[in-house]
Amino acid sequence: MKFPENFLWGGATAANQCEGGYNLDGKLPSVADHISKGDVNTPRTFTYDIDTDNFEYPSHEAIDFYHRYKEDIKLFAEMGFKVFRLSINWTRIFPKGDESEPNQAGLDFYRSVFEECKKYGIEPLVTLSHYETPIHLAKTYGGWTNRQVIDFFGHYARTVFNEYKDLVKYWLTFNEINILASQFGAIMGGGIIPEAGNSPIFNSDEESVASKNQRFQALHHQFLASANAVLDAKKINPEMQVGCMIAGNETYPLTCHPNDVLKAQQSIYEANFYCGDVQVRGEYPPFAKRMWQENDIELDIHAGDLELLKAGTVSFYTFSYYMSSTASTDPSQSASAGNMMFGIKNPYLESSDWGWQIDPVGLRVYLNEVYNRYRVPLMIVENGLGAHDEFAEDGKIHDSYRIDYMKQHIEQMKLAIADGVDLIGYTSWGCIDLVSASTGEMKKRYGFIYVDKDNEGYGTLDRSKKDSFDWYKEVIASNGEKL
Ligand code: BG6
Repeated sequence: MKFPENFLWGGATAANQCEGGYNLDGKLPSVADHISKGDVNTPRTFTYDIDTDNFEYPSHEAIDFYHRYKEDIKLFAEMGFKVFRLSINWTRIFPKGDESEPNQAGLDFYRSVFEECKKYGIEPLVTLSHYETPIHLAKTYGGWTNRQVIDFFGHYARTVFNEYKDLVKYWLTFNEINILASQFGAIMGGGIIPEAGNSPIFNSDEESVASKNQRFQALHHQFLASANAVLDAKKINPEMQVGCMIAGNETYPLTCHPNDVLKAQQSIYEANFYCGDVQVRGEYPPFAKRMWQENDIELDIHAGDLELLKAGTVSFYTFSYYMSSTASTDPSQSASAGNMMFGIKNPYLESSDWGWQIDPVGLRVYLNEVYNRYRVPLMIVENGLGAHDEFAEDGKIHDSYRIDYMKQHIEQMKLAIADGVDLIGYTSWGCIDLVSASTGEMKKRYGFIYVDKDNEGYGTLDRSKKDSFDWYKEVIASNGEKL
């Protein structure tokens, strides 16, 4: 029961959460650059105009990876990373999104980042879209609700595939594509923004920003864009591998009442398999028709769309996994917080400081569920514990809680491999502290590397190693044997 020899150990980030330099060298704002800081009780606000007098925008400086990537990649190399997941910020390459010529400074930046990775033998794993839709496309075209955006994205994808064809082998199309099914995903995932003014990114009104119909239509467009990218990548360099990326939420029935069991099953099908089936199997699942009918969704599917989905299937399946939740038909049950999707509290699980329910065994359940459905290689491209880190008297961060969390999850990965799952890699989320996507805070930290910046935006931005740094280095060196 061992990890395969060539297992891809590493860490993950996203451009909008770590780069900063949001308006440098020709870059224009993406949707993420219009989203303010919030906290665990206050939702982040999307502002139609950037208003720095009244709001703080954490992506504008983030952790300044834009200027410090050499130092950061050197630290990743010291831990022995085999792979580093990052996203290309679309607006560095095409600042407005609909230009025909790319921005050379943006191309040069990522070339230099990838070359730096290669210097240490680190394989980049690149997400094409991680909440970074150009704001111009959101304002002028309605974001992903507009079919034209498929072409703009196609042009961007082909440009970077051609540019980096000798430097990047592994690509992901849309980060957590399935969040578009939720209201939260409309702005961040779909670039669908309110007409004017400000709007919280979380809202109890399901349809406040976009109707379900608009969101599922936007999702259909992203599926098509993803399929095109798969086909283009193969043409440009047959060695390139393109994967999907799903927010993996394991959902259990709260009780063994058959109605709860059914609800949990439907939640897994609708949240995970709806997108997985399209991207891996190339077709909408059998339950989609009922789901569309029940939600008044009428998709505008053009001739040739379904054939394109069939042709452009991904070669591996990746996902984020932080937590699990439960489903119940009892309306008196209280909801729990979570990663993009919410369920009912599980009495057997502890939660993180941000209320996410910690469930290592759920990772094994999820890996088995997905592998047995799709039989393609799997990669966990996000996992970790968002926690408060404090310096001890010796001036260090002793993050034993983070080590415990990861150790337990890695043990379950090993068991899943013994179950027969073809798991090829693991990139923990926020390998260096970065801005939280859901709350915009700095103090929700995931990293092995501490970044000196507080929630108010003050700090030197200096990097330092936490205890988990040496621990993870040992995990990688022993290929998962020493946990
Ligand atoms: C995933 C996103 O949903 O979860 C990341 O892909 C995000 O962008 C991560 O940062 C953790 O969530 P949060 O809200 O703790 O940053």
